[in-house]
Amino acid sequence: MTIEWKDMYSVGDVTIDSQHKKLLENVNKLVIALKSNKGKEVVSEVVSFLNEYINEHFVYEEEYMIKHKYPDFIIHKKVHDSFIEKFNEFKKELELENLSALSLKVQTFLGKWLIDHILKMDHKYYEFIRDNPKSHSRKEGDDFHDKMHILSDIKRI
Ligand SMILES: [Fe+2]
Repeated sequence: MTIEWKDMYSVGDVTIDSQHKKLLENVNKLVIALKSNKGKEVVSEVVSFLNEYINEHFVYEEEYMIKHKYPDFIIHKKVHDSFIEKFNEFKKELELENLSALSLKVQTFLGKWLIDHILKMDHKYYEFIRDNPKSHSRKEGDDFHDKMHILSDIKRI
């Protein structure tokens, strides 16, 4: 089952939307490849896409939430961090396990991520920012901004 992008998935930021669209495209690519038994080749492409994606997308989205003083930032960041951990496990398994079995796991994991995270969790910061337009003017030096940066202690692999 492939998932097509709908406007209702938008979180109100062009950059984040286009990053989410890219993830969606990659999940779809994997689903199609698995159907035609080409999962093996495609899974390594999706893994290298995710290597880049995690760095660019999570960092951008986390900065965006801090900038808009999103109150559930720390909870959201923990979910991103556990995605990174899970992804690193996949990369290790990739060396040991049968690729087609793993690509199925990756597909299920990413599909769940799309639905649970982008459609539900990311939508919460969208609703907060939409309903609190004054949260737009946060910048460095702001207490919240500094505190969140210290708490998040971003470590990227
Ligand atoms: Fe997120």
